[in-house]
Amino acid sequence: MLTEYHCHILPGIDDGSDSAETSLKMVEQMKHQGVERIVATPHFYAHREKSVANFLAKRQVAFASIKDNMAIQDVHLGAEVAIEHGISELPDIEKLAVEGTRIILLEFPYRPYEKWMSEEVYNIAAEYKLKVMLAHVHRYLPYYSKDEIETILSSKAILQINNEAFTSWKEKKIAKKVMTEHTHFAFGSDAHNMTDRKPNWDILRKKVKAEDVEVSDSMFERYCL
Ligand SMILES: [Fe+2]
Repeated sequence: MLTEYHCHILPGIDDGSDSAETSLKMVEQMKHQGVERIVATPHFYAHREKSVANFLAKRQVAFASIKDNMAIQDVHLGAEVAIEHGISELPDIEKLAVEGTRIILLEFPYRPYEKWMSEEVYNIAAEYKLKVMLAHVHRYLPYYSKDEIETILSSKAILQINNEAFTSWKEKKIAKKVMTEHTHFAFGSDAHNMTDRKPNWDILRKKVKAEDVEVSDSMFERYCL
C-alpha cells in the first residue's frame, strides 16, 4: 500500500497547505500518483506551541475541515517534531506519534550538529518505546560534516527520504546509501502546497525499484500498535 509518510496537507496549521481547497487538491494529486495511505505531519515546534494538547486540538480542527472530502480516506495524524533542547521531557510528547503506530517523525535542526540532538532522539525512543523516524536525512549536507551525517545515519531510526532527493545528484547518493545499507527507511513527498512543493510521487515511482518502495510501505505495519 503506497504510503506517504511526510506531508503538510492539513490546512492552516503550519507553513503547508493554506486552505481546505489546496489540501483537497494535494490529496487528489497524491491519489493520481498512486498514494493509498497518508500520514499527515504538520510541523511541531515546542517553543511556539502552548502545549502538545493545544497542538492536537488545532490539528483535529484542521483535519475535520477536510476529512469527509479527501480523495484518500486512509489518513493517520502525526507531526514533524523539531528536535529542540529538552524536547524529550516535554509533557505528552509521546502523543505526537503517528496515530495507530509507535512511529514518531523527528526533524534535526538546520544548524551545526551537536551531541545533545542525538541524545534527545535517544531519550524519546527509550522513554516511550517509540520508533523514531528521522525526517529527510539527505537534507543536512550543507550543515553537517560527513562524519556527523554518518552518525545520524547509523542510528536505529527509520530513515526518511524525501522523493525530491532523487532529483539531486548529491542527495541521491545519500538516499541510495540508505537504501543499500539499511533495512529501515521510508519515503515521503514533504509536500507543502500545489506550487513549488507539491506532491511528487511520480518522481519516486520512476526512480526507485518497487522492492524498495515495499520496504518503505511495510514500516507502517511493522510498527503498528
Ligand atoms: Fe516536513
